Amino acid sequence: MSLYDYPRYYDLVYGSDWKAEVDFLNGVFKKHVSHKTKRLLEPACGTGRLMFRLERAGLQVDGIDLSEKAVDYCNKRLLKHGFRASARVADMTDFQVKSKYCAAFNTINSFRHLEQHAQARAHLVCMGQAIRKGGVYILGLHLSPGIGEAVEEESWIARRGQLCVQTSMWLVDRNLEQRYERFHMRYDIWTPTDHRILDDEFNFRTYTKKQFEEELLGKVREFEIATTYDFSYNLNHPIEVDDRSEDVVYILKRV
Ligand SMILES: C[S@@+](CC[C@H](N)C(=O)[O-])C[C@H]1O[C@@H](n2cnc3c(N)ncnc32)[C@H](O)[C@@H]1O
Repeated sequence: MSLYDYPRYYDLVYGSDWKAEVDFLNGVFKKHVSHKTKRLLEPACGTGRLMFRLERAGLQVDGIDLSEKAVDYCNKRLLKHGFRASARVADMTDFQVKSKYCAAFNTINSFRHLEQHAQARAHLVCMGQAIRKGGVYILGLHLSPGIGEAVEEESWIARRGQLCVQTSMWLVDRNLEQRYERFHMRYDIWTPTDHRILDDEFNFRTYTKKQFEEELLGKVREFEIATTYDFSYNLNHPIEVDDRSEDVVYILKRV
């Protein structure tokens, strides 16, 4: 069982955050893409909460995701609003595209689901083939800070109509030598007549600045770092990544 197979709850839990992200993505396209941005790719698109809003803003967005249920949810919403069913089931470590994209984005740590170095590298190689020169890959992830403590627990509540979901996420195990963090995630789901609990655990691969920038990205010749931001998505405040940095959005230029 994966919580990603419950797209209705996922979309509620993460759905309300889309505006700041979409504004930021549009700003990055204007500022960092060398040509006019029209066609986009979202690897690990999930329910397409961002795809849908970007389509509404006049862009064409294709998505890929491993979860059939999430892809189905995504396509149903797109069709309902008169757009193409532009998500498909595919593995972001092994996919091909028919024609290259102007830009791509993968926010909120989905990249860290790739647990092995070879998978992360294969993903970046596929992305290099999928994006045209002068385009960007916007990649958001949490780094493991070398100084200070990483966040270990989060909880938040989201409501839509009579449905209310509380999400709780906590660290079960962290092994920086073996490069994984294991998280437990719980949805507490309330309707007027029911309370249900869904639990899941998953691993994230860990990255320090050096592991990401030098040992992984430094070995992929298709991309270089154009600039970096954090999850406050403020285009006027690029950040300098250092040993304290945790949430980072890398703007990777396709060279
Ligand atoms: C945190 S969700 C992010 C969804 C979406 N990008 C968003 O911002 O709402 C992570 C997604 O990654 C997908 N995923 C995990 N591993 C994948 C892989 N190897 N290839 C494609 N999708 C994958 C999961 O199915 C899930 O939908």
